[in-house]
Amino acid sequence: MSISDKENKMIIRITRRAAVLLFAVLFAAALMTGCGSDSGQRRDGSVRIGVTLYDQYDTFLSELMNSFNGYVDARKAEGVDIVTVRQDAAGSQSLQNDEVAEMIENGCSVICVNLVDRTEPTPIIDMARKNDVPIIFFNRELVEEDLMQWDRLYYVGADAFQSGILQGEMATEYCKAHPEADKNGDGSIQYVVLEGEAGHQDAIIRTEYSVDTMIQKGIILDKVGYAIANWNRVQARSKMEQLIDSSGTGIELVLANNDDMAMGAIEAYEGREIPQEEWPVIFGIDGTEVGLQAVVSGKMAGTVYNDKDGQAQAMEALAYALATGKPLQNLSLPGEIRLEDNKYIRLPYKKVDQKAAEEILSK
Ligand code: GAL
Repeated sequence: MSISDKENKMIIRITRRAAVLLFAVLFAAALMTGCGSDSGQRRDGSVRIGVTLYDQYDTFLSELMNSFNGYVDARKAEGVDIVTVRQDAAGSQSLQNDEVAEMIENGCSVICVNLVDRTEPTPIIDMARKNDVPIIFFNRELVEEDLMQWDRLYYVGADAFQSGILQGEMATEYCKAHPEADKNGDGSIQYVVLEGEAGHQDAIIRTEYSVDTMIQKGIILDKVGYAIANWNRVQARSKMEQLIDSSGTGIELVLANNDDMAMGAIEAYEGREIPQEEWPVIFGIDGTEVGLQAVVSGKMAGTVYNDKDGQAQAMEALAYALATGKPLQNLSLPGEIRLEDNKYIRLPYKKVDQKAAEEILSK
């Protein structure tokens, strides 16, 4: 039986329409697969969030991650199918770049990156942009020009200037209220600074603003030493022992860029069996569990609370919204906190004296 010209044309038309339809279906399916879709939603409706840390043994970050996991669990309890994939970059930027590549390949809808080297975010930004996977950088702040490289890059953290100013204010208030802090009565306070990592925004800015605030508020300072101890308790202890050995009990104030290093200083005095009355006044920053306990016990004169819980809440809320394509303006954030310039979420620091430390620990 032969097919007429008319029937032939009709068959061609139907075949073309079927091809167009098939193409449309395949295209839509491709958009919904993995994290390459507009909304970031995975095909099975689940949310997969990648997290990579510069060093999983960092005390403050471990506590921040515990809080973050709590928010993820709460989301699960609401019935959301959400998983987190967590990696430790162990201090290597190239390892972290590989981890991000793997997370993208494994279908993460969004990745939270605690950069090892905050001056080297470009390989991660390039991969993210190419695969349309948004990135939330946190805690280790990249420069603004880098964050502007693509509109789906965000930063969650705090304002380093504020932590330095608050520490300087607390130390000033203490010195004014306790003239005996000037142990040798020479009218100036002999001090040392224990600094975090060289090149870290928090280390550079905290050191500068803490000292400047004290000077501006009328305290005469005399720097007798400083040491870089990379946020680390053990390193701080050994650096502080060297400082004690070179200055004896002449140190009157220790300004530590974080609580772990303040704890290292305390251990150095304890290790040298120097009675507590002869110790300098010691201030930290972070309000970690051990830091708060040291404030309560009086070994540390005060600390500045680095709001790990607020940062964790903000990071989870932003990650979830990005992964599910929800609007970013209605994120559930603590207090008055907002997403600024569609890029930044910063949580405020708070001064912590003995009473405040007790309150935080009892929550
Ligand atoms: C700081 C914190 C330090 C350390 C560092 C790591 O904000 O105060 O304790 O965790 O981040 O980047």
